[in-house]
Amino acid sequence: MITINPINTNNNYRPTFGIYFHTVKDNLGNIVYRGDTRFFRGDINWNKLVDFLEEKYKNTNDVKIIMHACSNGEEAYSLITVLLERLGQNAEKFFPILAKDIDTKHINLAKTGIYDISLIEKMEAKRYIGDNFYKYFDECTNGKCSKPKEFIKNKVIFEWGDILEDVKTLSLKNKILLARNFMPYLGKEEIYRYVNTLAQKADESTTIIIGGFDRDFGMDTLFNRFGFKRVGTHGVFEKKK
Ligand SMILES: C[S@@+](CC[C@H](N)C(=O)[O-])C[C@H]1O[C@@H](n2cnc3c(N)ncnc32)[C@H](O)[C@@H]1O
Repeated sequence: MITINPINTNNNYRPTFGIYFHTVKDNLGNIVYRGDTRFFRGDINWNKLVDFLEEKYKNTNDVKIIMHACSNGEEAYSLITVLLERLGQNAEKFFPILAKDIDTKHINLAKTGIYDISLIEKMEAKRYIGDNFYKYFDECTNGKCSKPKEFIKNKVIFEWGDILEDVKTLSLKNKILLARNFMPYLGKEEIYRYVNTLAQKADESTTIIIGGFDRDFGMDTLFNRFGFKRVGTHGVFEKKK
């Protein structure tokens, strides 16, 4: 049994995850959990990210998205729907996304695929998927929750995983690595070791994507120091030539 993971109290940094809370409900619409993320989180331009990925990987089908710190899965479904909207059939080479989190509770909830998607999130969704929300999601029969449709559920695999361990063995060749908004959980040395490992293993075929809290935390500068450059849009990095 794994128990996680208070935000690291050695950090002086205290992001207000509370404002990003997201509720997860059971089939009857009872709240079973409040999460720490949301659909179509506004700290990245998902359209620009997808356009960048399309261009960068246009000449290969050998590409894989690994999403660490995926929380309850909202981020995975945001990316899947934007990929499908913008790339259509050409998005298929990016699936299935492998989505991991260190918190078993998050992963178990992600596997149930039942969400309370707020009106604000649905409005944010419009920016990316227009009026196609119900192409991708069903309402629960009692109207109290939403569920991703099977065809998008099949495009993500949720698994337990600790990114700090995974990066040690993971090949980063042709990998798109999202690990967003998890820096506040780490101590300074862990962050340094993590970025150092990425820098040693990444090459130009790797894309690394961080979140707004990570940027506030100084990760842009640290990535620069370790030989990455920003590409595409805020929070997206690749190895400098
Ligand atoms: C604020 S949420 C971020 C969710 C989503 N990526 C986003 O940007 O909205 C942070 C997540 O990081 C996870 N986490 C913390 N340390 C981790 C680690 N070492 N490996 C994988 N996930 C971790 C937490 O369990 C939590 O679900």
